Amino acid sequence: MSALAEIRKVATPQELFAAAADEVLQAAKSAVAVRGRFIIALSGGSTPKSLYNLLATNAKNALAWDCTFFFWGDERHVPPTDPESNYKMANEAMLEKIPVSAANIFRVPAENPDAEAAAAEYEQTLQKFFAVEPGQFPQFDLILLGMGPDGHTASLFPGTAALQEKSRLVVANWVEKFKTHRITFTLPLLNAARSVVFLVSGTDKADALKNVLEGDAPGEQYPSKLVRPTDGKLIWLIDRAAASKLN
Ligand code: 6PG
Repeated sequence: MSALAEIRKVATPQELFAAAADEVLQAAKSAVAVRGRFIIALSGGSTPKSLYNLLATNAKNALAWDCTFFFWGDERHVPPTDPESNYKMANEAMLEKIPVSAANIFRVPAENPDAEAAAAEYEQTLQKFFAVEPGQFPQFDLILLGMGPDGHTASLFPGTAALQEKSRLVVANWVEKFKTHRITFTLPLLNAARSVVFLVSGTDKADALKNVLEGDAPGEQYPSKLVRPTDGKLIWLIDRAAASKLN
């Protein structure tokens, strides 16, 4: 676990989302103050939906949305209108409710039937936005991540090929258990971030969280373990239920 990892346990999911919203606002304020813009990668799944709702209501006027640029750390291989789409979830929970320009929103072109082509296109979008050369890893101000009950994060699932990727920013990752590709940030891109915040809630995550934070199983079995920002901040925001098996 990164020496810079901070584990912050709160009692309830509501407190978790409030703490996460504070982290986003703090990261945004400092990024805009120092660099004039805030570049965030959103996570998908169900947990962050309440955070996005909270940001859309409570932070609607607190954040410099016109200097905020939204990306996704992973996406399902579906069109943006699909109920499975991480873009659709974040758009409905937050983006369409806040004064942010469509030009600031960079969704994964996951409607492309060729998942590899979608990943390559998104990678080029990142390289252009951050003005980095191939081989360089852009630095997100904040990457939000969740963790599955199997310890996966983004779409880096246990035993999948993407875990070995060392040079690409974004890849299409075949996930056998779902018989589908997912498009995902790679570990080197995640670990280049200034700040990574994991949001973990619920008893169904307790076993994986214990393995990730306290176990000695290899990271390939619990990919969330492999997220250790090289020189960035790592914060684990966990609620009591998810933390129930920790020492
Ligand atoms: C996704 C997410 C994924 C998610 C975990 C946890 O595309 O599903 O990016 O990594 O964060 O699966 O999902 P829940 O928050 O729904 O438990």
